[in-house]
Formats: sequence, C-alpha cells, structure tokens
Amino acid sequence: MTGQSIQPIRVGVIGLGFGGETALKCYKQLPGVDIVSLAGMEEDKLEQLGETYKIPYLYRDYKDLLARDDIDAVSIALPNFLHAPAGIMALERGIHVLCEKPLARNSVEAESIVQAAIKANRVLKVVFNHRQRGDIQILKRYIDEGSLGTIYYAKASWMRSRGIPGAGSWFVSKERSGGGPLIDLGVHVLDMALFLLNEPEIVTASAMTYNHLGSNGVGFNAKALKSGAGHDFEVEDLATAFLRTSQGTTLLLECSWATHSGAGDDYGITLYGTKGGAEIKAKNYSWEDTLRIYTDVAGTPAEISPRVYRGEYHLAVIREFIDAIREGNWSEHNGSEGLKRTRIIDACYASAQLGREIALDK
Ligand SMILES: NC(=O)c1ccc[n+]([C@@H]2O[C@H](COP(=O)([O-])OP(=O)(O)OC[C@H]3O[C@@H](n4cnc5c(N)ncnc54)[C@H](O)[C@@H]3O)[C@@H](O)[C@H]2O)c1
Repeated sequence: MTGQSIQPIRVGVIGLGFGGETALKCYKQLPGVDIVSLAGMEEDKLEQLGETYKIPYLYRDYKDLLARDDIDAVSIALPNFLHAPAGIMALERGIHVLCEKPLARNSVEAESIVQAAIKANRVLKVVFNHRQRGDIQILKRYIDEGSLGTIYYAKASWMRSRGIPGAGSWFVSKERSGGGPLIDLGVHVLDMALFLLNEPEIVTASAMTYNHLGSNGVGFNAKALKSGAGHDFEVEDLATAFLRTSQGTTLLLECSWATHSGAGDDYGITLYGTKGGAEIKAKNYSWEDTLRIYTDVAGTPAEISPRVYRGEYHLAVIREFIDAIREGNWSEHNGSEGLKRTRIIDACYASAQLGREIALDK
C-alpha cells in the first residue's frame, strides 16, 4: 500500500430490472467507485433506487445518461435489442462498457459493439456471472491441474418447467430479445462449459428449437396466465444443440423455459474426461453440495464431494471490470468472448431453422 488515494471511477447504470439493480448493489460494495447516474423508464423505481443508492443524476432515457461528460464506465442492463445502440453510443463517447448477457441479439450486432470498443480503445465486458459460482471455480482449478485428463464429452443444461419470463414483455418478442431460452439461459451454460473447457473452438452446431408450450399459454406463472400470456409468444420454449470442437470434444446443450418435467430452475454440467469425470447439479440456484468428481482410486471407482463455497457471481464480474479499467490494458478486454457466444447461438438458430448441421466460420 502506498497510502495514495486512487481516483474514483464514476459509473452510470442503465436499467432498473434484475440486471440493473444487481449492478447497483455490487458497485456500492467496491471502494473507489462512485455511482453518479441511473437511467430507467419506471419512474417510481427510478426515484426509489436513486434514493437508496444516493445517486445524484436520474434519467428516463439512457441517451441522456450517456450524453453526460463525467462518466467513466457504464453498466448496460437494457432489453437485448438495446445492447448494441447503447453500447456503441457509450463506447463512441469514450465510456467503458459492462454489458449484460447476451452481448447482443445476434453476432452482427455483437461484432459492431466489439468494433466500437476496439476503435475507442475502451473496455467492453459481458456479464457472465454464473461462471463465478464456487463450484465452477473449484472445478475449473481441478481441470487446469490436469486431474480430469482430456475432456472428450460435455453436457450443459438449464431447464425450467414453468419459467417463461415477462409475459407480454420484450423477453418473448423475437424482435426485441433475439430468441428464447437459448439466448437467455443457454448463453450462461454455454459460457460455463466453454470456460471449463478452456475456450475450445466450436466448428459445427446442430440444433433444434421447439415452441409447443409457450404459444399455448403453458409455462407461465399464474399471474402471467391471468394477463393472457401466450398470445404474443414468438420465441422457442426449449432448445437443444450438439456442438463439435476443433479438438473432437463434443458439447450437448439443453435449455428450456417451459417443459412438462420435474425441473424447477435447474442447471447442470457434466464432463467426461480420460482421467476423471465431474458433475455439477444445481437445483433452484442452490450452491451447496453441488459438485461431484468421479475418479479411480486403486482400481476402484471413487466419488469425491468437494466442499464448495457460494462464489461471488455479479460482484466478481463487476470487480474484474473495474480492475480492467484501472489496469489500463484496455485492448485485452474487447468483448470477444461475448461475440464468440453470439456466433455459436446464431449457428444453433440457423441449424434449427434449416434442419441441418451448420459449420461456423473461422
Ligand atoms: N446475468 C444475469 O444473471 C441476468 C439476469 C437477468 C437479466 N439479465 C439481462 O439483463 C438485461 C435486462 O434484463 P432485466 O431482467 O433486468 O429486464 P427488465 O425488463 O426487468 O429491465 C429492463 C430495464 O431497461 C429499461 N429501459 C428500457 N428502455 C430504456 C430506455 N430507452 N432508456 C432507459 N431505460 C430503458 C426499463 O425501464 C427497465 O428498467 C437483459 O439483457 C437480460 O438478459 C441478466
């Protein structure tokens, strides 16, 4: 410690839903960060959050927040269709961007945000908070030690039975969201799997999407049903995908908002390696006792249950964002991980539409 005071980083937060409010909570916990501005269209909530977090400048429109000339960094927690316009505007104004997942509705939009970050030489990071779970972080360290050997087959899933978000909202509009559970939940488990597998190159995708429940009003909660959910349900309610990597590893993805099943809000990862296997099963966002390692002890199959910790989720992501801004190697954080995931998701939607395997461009 030098005892020198560090220059505070002045941040703005855009969006008042789960994404925006979580960002506020996390920034508040970090030293040397001032939340100077907040934007969102729900007037009561804007006032209430402004009061709670002592934020001096409140706006209904994100463009007014980004027009300020005293903001160093911004969290974008807007509906997916606004990620690209808001992200590009921020970067062009020299503001570092932390964007909620997915980076954009598709890879064309995502590419344009990444290009804006490169051109402006500012940090662009995407919120992949679930890879910051304790069980994932422990498993990652175990894999990096070589303990599973070569992983040749992986499965990643996030399944719900009655979990369609926001009836009648942007979530279920293809135009405003870009897709259903594949882009909403699938992007998280895809991220967790790619993170654990050390970012393999995905070379092909074969996928299928279904919409048998959502469009018939099934899969919403009781409140949503009363409001006539289902009429405007334009996206898939279940997606499955089979991805091949350039190394021959295969990854099976499965995600749903609505199924006739025993699922709550459950996700899981299974890895099969030459020296060991691993499984994470998290029911309803649980984090305790979720990880199992399968190995061989003196020729006998053995099961290990590491004592996992909860992990920091969004807080870890936001700390990494702030650290990246402070460290100054901004060109190393240009959103390319987020772009890679949108390219894979694009290939999955194309495969489902065309009914065949799709090769991803290099
Ligand atoms: N990482 C996670 O775990 C996680 C969880 C939930 C949502 N998300 C992501 O966060 C983003 C937002 O999701 P949400 O659930 O918070 O949505 P939401 O619909 O609850 O909130 C969206 C917010 O955007 C605001 N908004 C819309 N247009 C605006 C404009 N022109 N100017 C200012 N504000 C505007 C709305 O007023 C609202 O406050 C999505 O991309 C979603 O995928 C991530």
